[in-house]
Amino acid sequence: MKDVITLAIESSCDETSAAILKNGREVLSNIISTQIETHKKFGGVVPEVASRKHIESIDEVVQEALDTANMDFKDIDHIAVTYGPGLAGALLVGLSHAKALAYTLDIPLVGVNHIEGHVSANYIEHRDLKPPFITLIVSGGHTHLVEVKDYGVYEILGRTRDDASGEAFDKIARAMGLGYPGGPIIDRLAKLGNKYAIEFPRAHMDEEYDFSFSGLKSAVLNYLNAKKMKNEEIIVEDVAASFQEAVVEVLSSKAIKAALDKNYKTIALAGGVACNSSLREKITEMAKEHGIEIKYPPLVLCTDNAAMIGCAGYYSYINGRRDDMSLNAVPGLKI
Ligand code: KG4
Ligand code: ZN
Repeated sequence: MKDVITLAIESSCDETSAAILKNGREVLSNIISTQIETHKKFGGVVPEVASRKHIESIDEVVQEALDTANMDFKDIDHIAVTYGPGLAGALLVGLSHAKALAYTLDIPLVGVNHIEGHVSANYIEHRDLKPPFITLIVSGGHTHLVEVKDYGVYEILGRTRDDASGEAFDKIARAMGLGYPGGPIIDRLAKLGNKYAIEFPRAHMDEEYDFSFSGLKSAVLNYLNAKKMKNEEIIVEDVAASFQEAVVEVLSSKAIKAALDKNYKTIALAGGVACNSSLREKITEMAKEHGIEIKYPPLVLCTDNAAMIGCAGYYSYINGRRDDMSLNAVPGLKI
């Protein structure tokens, strides 16, 4: 069978990325131009600035993806592009670029759900991974526990009722003046702290697979304020470790419960928070007792990148999905 070459484009938040894949799982190039340094100054992503930065870099990023893969536009069989969820203006830059290329080259356009992209990052790393399995999607914008029944077929078991897990990391880091994005900073500091130092609440909720992080966030903020009021020293490393432990414990126990209840032997982690070293360690350790295997992508495929979009797009493409020039950005797109 002839190889299928995918050109993928991702621009939903603060990374402009383009990738070339062969047959969905072989990454020939994955170019990521991050805007983190720009947004750091503002303590978070500024949507208007993000759109402008995407416009500035998209051409170059796509060209670099082709050059690195040693390919030309004529070698591409189809285009995969994120059309949601994400920031409207940011999404539109990648989507418009993808549409223009698909139209000019006269090749199929396939819209990809960004969250589905995060899950698919696991297919790239684990060549033998096939549905069905359980996935825990933990990113800056999403926290979902999902049953992957087949390629592109998902059943949501639970989701966050308020903050996403990555958002909680970012907000706590910001409250402690640690910078953006907060996840990697807290992860690093937590290694130096005592995770038993402060007893923060764990929201296990009655809805068994749903999550909530706003109570924990308030508890940490209250703790920090009380310390400041009393002029007491805040041991940032202990706060980071204790907060992180509360998040990781709830994420791990609910994911494992879902796998046990539904009789699955594999849980795949996805999204930026899947970079967290403590989450990787704790869930792997807890899962081992039950004979459950934990899979996760390498760091570069956990955070936003076009390779994961290309992989999800490839499976949609071979399953017959085709989009036309009316495809619009859907900022609130659900999985
Ligand atoms: O998946 P992603 O790149 O973007 C979204 O689709 O949201 O995730 C970004 C999120 C940020 O909230 C960031 O703080 C978090 O992932 N993150 C981490 C770590 N690395 C990135 N959170 C915890 N520990 C980490 N090591
Ligand atoms: Zn993402």
